[in-house]
Amino acid sequence: MTSAVGVRVLRSVRELREWRATAGEVGLVPTMGALHEGHVALVERAVRESERAVASIFVNPTQFGPGEDYAAYPRSDERDLALLEAAGCAAAFVPSVEEMYPPGDDTRVVPGDIAARLEGAARPGHFTGVCTVVAKLFGMATPTRAYFGQKDFQQLRVIQTMVRGLALPVRIVPCPIVRAAGGLALSSRNAYLSAEERRGALALSRGLHVAEAEWQRGERGARRLREWVASTLAAAGLAAEYVSVADPVTLREVEGRAERAVVSLACRVGRARLIDNALVGMTLDELAAL
Ligand code: PAJ
Repeated sequence: MTSAVGVRVLRSVRELREWRATAGEVGLVPTMGALHEGHVALVERAVRESERAVASIFVNPTQFGPGEDYAAYPRSDERDLALLEAAGCAAAFVPSVEEMYPPGDDTRVVPGDIAARLEGAARPGHFTGVCTVVAKLFGMATPTRAYFGQKDFQQLRVIQTMVRGLALPVRIVPCPIVRAAGGLALSSRNAYLSAEERRGALALSRGLHVAEAEWQRGERGARRLREWVASTLAAAGLAAEYVSVADPVTLREVEGRAERAVVSLACRVGRARLIDNALVGMTLDELAAL
């Protein structure tokens, strides 16, 4: 698997730094592994836009709450490395928990208001774990660019806000959501779904699509847009944890007219907790330029 031209597997910060020193402009794709076509799209873009691309594979314990799926999170390192190699990724950083959180580790990066709602409200401490591990990865790999998916829209905004706030010298590149046929957003957690649950889960993207279509037809009422999503889910026997129509920059809920919005939801399907979103009235390129 690690042939002469293959993906270089780096397990320590020291190895990563040595590799990075001669790698030129580096594009970093942080992941938790169990890679799918969504991750691969980020890697392919990093490969296109950088001299060398490096993906990290690390299931980060600090971003999981008690009772969440840290222990059960799918792991498939060998397959992941093969996918990275096929995508032209130069290196994979695959550290242990001890390497990322060595004895004496005592610092956390705590995001502010942007992380308080939606996923941050549902998963207390989640974005502190995300910011901490991503800040560490930026410090370790010193990438020129780092690639994040719109799939985790709030995460993308939290990271953009951290980079701006801490003046970190890295360009954040937002990438569109990759979906399976039928519309289900690809996610490592889709592995938890039975065939029947997977069919039911199509209501998530369908609901967002209905809201998007209504917006295109001129509907601007935030409450009406939320109702379209919630009723589509309800028709499939699903109840969302939240359905949000928020400003894409601040992530504050829109009360009146939604001239631009991120329509997002979280919903339990079987034992999987799935999230998805759609952006209206603003493009990812506009978001990248913030
Ligand atoms: P993970 O869930 O593995 O996702 C890694 C990256 O892939 C994230 O930027 C995510 O938004 C993107 N991604 C996931 N599914 C996608 C899809 N269907 N289409 C496009 N992009 C997709 O997000 C994390 O890991 C972690 O929180 C991490 C940032 C690595 C920090 O631990």
